[in-house]
Amino acid sequence: MKVFTLASELKVLQQENPNQKIAFIPTMGALHQGHLSLVQAAQQDGCLTVVSIFVNPLQFNNPEDLEKYPRTLEEDLRKLRSQGTDAVFTPTVEEMYPTQLQNVVVDLGALDRRFEGACRPGHFHGVVQVVYRLFQFVQPHVVYFGEKDLQQCLVIEQLIKQVFPSLEMRRISTMRESSGLAMSSRNVRLSEDGRKTASELYLSLQKIVAGRYHLCAIIEAEKNRLTQLGFEVEYLDCVSLPFLDEISCDFFRDLKSDQAQPSCVVLVAASLEGVRLIDNQVF
Ligand code: PAJ
Repeated sequence: MKVFTLASELKVLQQENPNQKIAFIPTMGALHQGHLSLVQAAQQDGCLTVVSIFVNPLQFNNPEDLEKYPRTLEEDLRKLRSQGTDAVFTPTVEEMYPTQLQNVVVDLGALDRRFEGACRPGHFHGVVQVVYRLFQFVQPHVVYFGEKDLQQCLVIEQLIKQVFPSLEMRRISTMRESSGLAMSSRNVRLSEDGRKTASELYLSLQKIVAGRYHLCAIIEAEKNRLTQLGFEVEYLDCVSLPFLDEISCDFFRDLKSDQAQPSCVVLVAASLEGVRLIDNQVF
């Protein structure tokens, strides 16, 4: 496995493998099985797999969160090596953000004003800037993103549509602990009890999908249940895809029997023990 810190070194990799499709998986490290499932998907597609590890300061709206973000480079490299990854790109902040850098402009519409966009001002701007630069450096043919961050997938789909139209994007479903808790680099900051409680988030998503014919009532009940369990709920909502448009309380009840249900998602963000967790369920 090759490890590069300079973008110029990536060029060599591209020149040495002119006929192979390059698959790219951007990450911020602290890798777990969820990240590795993206690498596996790329390998199954028969591509040369390139993973980046870069904790992107531009996407953290909270400096404390950036400071506390786990950094486990040696362990990450070990996991990627045993997974059979071809190359890892670990750039420095200076390389990613030289002075006099032009920002890429992508129209995110309402995606930047709702849910993660509203709760974390500037977050998606930071994600778009870093991913744009990484795509330029790595020059991938296909990129892999996790559905765990569904809104990020929708944002990247806009970046690709508007700036990299020939790039292929694959969404990979969320990898969960056996308890249902979505794997996340932030989970290590939870206590043992906290981890158990955190799995209730997934239960709430499932209960809302099952109870969708009484949508507003079930959402309200689940918000209250999570609050009682000690969560600070930022949002818990059910919206339609792909634009995260609001739907009415009667939306599912009003569907005619011969009418196909449009793709929808239940989204949640909630803090527990000071750790911010997000999850979603598409249905
Ligand atoms: P990071 O949180 O490290 O996640 C890297 C990729 O792994 C993302 O596509 C994310 O959705 C995916 N992922 C995380 N947990 C997952 C899980 N449990 N199951 C499946 N996939 C999972 O997302 C970022 O980094 C950054 O915003 C980044 C895109 C790298 C830009 O800085």
